[in-house]
Amino acid sequence: MNAFMRCDRTVAWAALAGHYQAHGRDLDLREAFARDPARFEHLSLQAPEVFADLSKNLWDLATRKLLVDLARECGLETRRDAMFAGAAINTTEGRAVLHTALRAPPGAAPQSAPVHAVLDSMLAFADRVRDSNASGFTDIVNIGIGGSDLGPRMAVQALEAFTQPGLRLHFVANVDGHDIAPLLGRLDAERTLFVIASKTFTTQETMANAAVARRWFLAQGGTDIARHFVGTTTNVKVAAEFGITTTFGFWDWVGGRYSMWSAIGLPIAIAIGAEGFRALLAGAHAMDRHFANAPLADNLPVQLGLLDLWYRNFHRFSSRSIAPYHQGLSRLPAYLQQLEMESNGKRVDLDGRELPFGTSPVVWGEPGTNGQHAYFQMLHQGTDVIPVEFIAVRKPAHALTDLHAMVLANCLAQGQALMLGKSTDVALSERVSTASATLDVLTLARHRTFPGNRPSTTLLLEELSPYSLGALIALYEHRVFVSGAVWGINSFDQWGVELGKSLCNDLLPRLASLDTTGLDASTAGLLRKFAGP
Ligand code: F6P
Repeated sequence: MNAFMRCDRTVAWAALAGHYQAHGRDLDLREAFARDPARFEHLSLQAPEVFADLSKNLWDLATRKLLVDLARECGLETRRDAMFAGAAINTTEGRAVLHTALRAPPGAAPQSAPVHAVLDSMLAFADRVRDSNASGFTDIVNIGIGGSDLGPRMAVQALEAFTQPGLRLHFVANVDGHDIAPLLGRLDAERTLFVIASKTFTTQETMANAAVARRWFLAQGGTDIARHFVGTTTNVKVAAEFGITTTFGFWDWVGGRYSMWSAIGLPIAIAIGAEGFRALLAGAHAMDRHFANAPLADNLPVQLGLLDLWYRNFHRFSSRSIAPYHQGLSRLPAYLQQLEMESNGKRVDLDGRELPFGTSPVVWGEPGTNGQHAYFQMLHQGTDVIPVEFIAVRKPAHALTDLHAMVLANCLAQGQALMLGKSTDVALSERVSTASATLDVLTLARHRTFPGNRPSTTLLLEELSPYSLGALIALYEHRVFVSGAVWGINSFDQWGVELGKSLCNDLLPRLASLDTTGLDASTAGLLRKFAGP
């Protein structure tokens, strides 16, 4: 049994339920702004590197106060401090959760000595590889999946402006051969370094792709496996059996989806160099300090995590859309899907008791402005309310200022349109050249009405740099921690991925043998179809 109060049994939860009925459900953002001219100032926050406008959300200062009361009553601060101190808060695996120690300066967090020893040697290696003239490497291929892929892939793309010219970074995750096969066809074995990234070094997809890469390397006449393959893993022994002699280790207290700050970040370090990687860590550490020390009402990860809970459990919104208005952040939604849904997609509390309320929302999105021309129709006029999270960057990394002004204006316009909407009266007063000339005007105006009052958050970075990206990602990590902690779930295990893995191991040989004994009729029928005539 754990000592924490289940959130839906607290005094604050009951108060929030009453507040939702009285003021929350029918809150109208347009009226709220008219009532409080300082609403923007009241409900926006500056955290390290990230400014957040939370004022276009369906809440007010009273909601915020009650949510903070809820966090306190559920022991959020105690759980947060336990995480930073290295307590085994991942109870189902009996592990500490110490990704924050990976970005703390020497001596400032638990496990500092091993963390900095690996960091120093990994960064020295990264800088040697990065110098293509000296190292001979022009292509770096990271083979990994889930947390051993999504973070590095997202960050390398985001920080392209800081990447060593002439160096190409590739990522292979999928066990589908359509991922690795075309890439290998483009590579020169002599100039390629493979990074086999796997916390466990047992993941089926990664091991299969690593074996393909090794076969290809040998078939190309390559001989020096030890020079062309390195490992980033907690399982140094199995990596050595593969023929890998250069391994950068990490520890079981680093969750896969929290591992881009560890040796798993090697591709990032190769791309942006040791100095850049240290800046990434420092930005994340600045956010860690903010999370650890800022009062709950001024604490951005706390505010975001509590707002997520307010939407999920009181408004009953089941999804959130991420809209980064920066092409470099186009892998951020995919990264956040694992971070949030693998962490908080849980249906039992810490004591294993089924929860009567919703947990992780579905997180999804695309970079703006692309998403506007795809699914924003539904966000504006669909039947479901989906909170949108805009991420904007004030200074671009290019000189095309006219395009950058357009991207910022589009970002602003979407948040404004979601909130303001358009009444049928306004729609009636407009003449639209593309509209049907035969349909009656009222019917047409109804189709062109926007209900508005749709919530959004805007996060603003001054620029996208290693330091600010570190702060942004740490912000998301802690926000997921906050909602998970208040819900009383274990945000750090992932038992839900196990069943499919073991069934796959059972089905793989059946694809060849066509043995369908004991299978349900659908799986048996599909297996025969998959196997072909
Ligand atoms: O899919 C489950 C999972 O364990 C993730 O949590 C993890 O990020 C991924 O697989 C990859 O695991 P590994 O790094 O051990 O190969």
